[in-house]
Amino acid sequence: MPCCGDTGKVPGFYGNLKRDFLYAKPKDKNIFKNSNYKKLRKDLLTGNVPDFCKSCRIVEEDDINIKDFQQRVRQHLHLNNKAIDATKLSDDDLLTNFSIKEVLLSINNKCNLRCVYCPQSIPKKREGSEYDLFSTIDFYKAELSEGEFFEILELLVPFGLEIINFVGIAELTVYKHWKSLAKKLKSRYPHLRLCVVTNFSLPYSEEDISSFMMFDLVNISIDTLDKNILEKVRVGANLDTILKNIQNLIKSKGNASKPTISFNVTEYDLMIEHLPDLGRFAAQNGIHINFSNLFTAKGTVADKTQCLKSIVQMSDTVMPKVWETINSLPRRMKAENPKIDIHHLGPMYDIIRERAEKISPNYFVPSVEEETLTAVHNKFAQGSKIYLRDIYVRFDQSYRGVYMPRNKNLCISEQDCKTIIITPILVEERDDQNLNINVCESLKCNIEDRLRLDTCHIKQPFTHVLFDIKDTAFQKNLPSLEQISLKNFKPLSDGQFIRENLLPQQIDRLIDKVAKKYKEVFLWGAGARSEFLLKVPATSKLNIAGIIDTDSKRWGQIFHGIEVISPDQAENAEAIVICNVISPEKIERSIKSSNLYGVSTYIV
Ligand SMILES: C[S@@+](CC[C@H](N)C(=O)[O-])C[C@H]1O[C@@H](n2cnc3c(N)ncnc32)[C@H](O)[C@@H]1O
Ligand code: SF4
Repeated sequence: MPCCGDTGKVPGFYGNLKRDFLYAKPKDKNIFKNSNYKKLRKDLLTGNVPDFCKSCRIVEEDDINIKDFQQRVRQHLHLNNKAIDATKLSDDDLLTNFSIKEVLLSINNKCNLRCVYCPQSIPKKREGSEYDLFSTIDFYKAELSEGEFFEILELLVPFGLEIINFVGIAELTVYKHWKSLAKKLKSRYPHLRLCVVTNFSLPYSEEDISSFMMFDLVNISIDTLDKNILEKVRVGANLDTILKNIQNLIKSKGNASKPTISFNVTEYDLMIEHLPDLGRFAAQNGIHINFSNLFTAKGTVADKTQCLKSIVQMSDTVMPKVWETINSLPRRMKAENPKIDIHHLGPMYDIIRERAEKISPNYFVPSVEEETLTAVHNKFAQGSKIYLRDIYVRFDQSYRGVYMPRNKNLCISEQDCKTIIITPILVEERDDQNLNINVCESLKCNIEDRLRLDTCHIKQPFTHVLFDIKDTAFQKNLPSLEQISLKNFKPLSDGQFIRENLLPQQIDRLIDKVAKKYKEVFLWGAGARSEFLLKVPATSKLNIAGIIDTDSKRWGQIFHGIEVISPDQAENAEAIVICNVISPEKIERSIKSSNLYGVSTYIV
């Protein structure tokens, strides 16, 4: 679909949807025969796109070279049409074959808000130059009729369309007929997944809210819960109205599985310190988060006034704190609600991490009250194997202290005698990048001169110790401690599983590793998490011999092309990938105590 293809009088980068396609001569009335569409596809497949497209914030992944990209398109075409032999497709074939899974479509170009970073904030003129479509009145007046919309859809559906995503530089719910459109869509194409990105800031009636129930995914754009900042940036929005709508949507959804509710969060300097409040609210209300980086579009208020800074433009001084916030948020949200997914669009996450790690390897910056941790936090330089780390067990509850691998020691020196409560946490860094932890009993003691932390005595499978250190009111009569050896500490519990938030590229790497190590693997759980894993590109490299499920009613069924089997049928398994978000550790324990005890397990 010609991206940014205006439907008014002016052309977009790749033409004008209405003029070049809908109103073209009948024989050309097929978007795939349209020369602009063909040019777009060729340009995308050769990397020869306008600079504007190269910096498009919707581009989700790190740079990929053109050869790899073409290879991925070949694989995609083959997956969607097994009759196509991917190895035999020439570069020209890539232009003529297409299979379309998802379309991002905007039926109107109007919006009730004027967010400072959005082209909607560009002053409108009568005439625009060729590529200046976002400043022309025509652009914002343009909209498709319901008939035109369905005409386009009828062409797309035969290509395997599964998802229709209403997003553009517009607000769908400003379109007069959005509710009847959604209703017709659902009745004509019940198999289509309907998604919408909305500012959710109109005062919706009960009927409006129940119309959102027809959607599979409602992405609500909200960058912060700080009223001042939100209303300053998302001009025309009212935080109270948005929150009331959210409450009504959650109420109307009740226990139903649809729609999935997600926040679309644009990250910039002003909102960072308030991010934990938004994350807490989302986790507690079962709302996912998609982050994207601020893109300074030309001519917008944000561009002209420079009122917002992208996070990557923030100074080195604040980078460790920014990294702490961004890095801890997904872990905090998962600890509060394991069903939540947190997703970052674009490579910004890696850029921030690299910058922060150049300054310090620490996961967090200790607060002024944390005197003991503050005393050591400057000790660790880039690449140090010892650093400050936190492990979250709830959104607002964490162990935080000095993280050390096996066979290391560290001296903490104190000028004054200080009372601390020290809790060692034994940590196993798992192959799947999640953690198993065992918390030991705490000790209240004084450090008089120095305290030596020592990790010589930790035993397999533990790989690290986190010494959680809390300063407390000074008490004279406590024993003074000079050395901590783990011989003195007993684990308190059977252990706890801590899920890390794996980024898509980390999941890819994990699957790659498993695929290289085992000739065949089994998945555990014929549910949503397996469905998710089966969609990860790297999963095509796994030879999946079956999906194990304990529900006997599922045995023999086919789940996404793979047979569901009983645990007994997997007796020769070498590796099992446990696909479960609620309690994967319980499944792992049951596997290890069954006749499959020797199998390697991975949790995704
Ligand atoms: C253009 S809006 C359209 C849908 C709807 N009006 C809304 O705001 O949700 C789609 C998404 O893009 C985000 N967005 C707009 N301009 C942006 C920019 N310059 N940089 C990053 N995100 C931006 C919005 O916050 C929103 O989540
Ligand atoms: S609500 Fe969406 S389309 Fe409207 S101005 Fe804001 S970002 Fe742009």
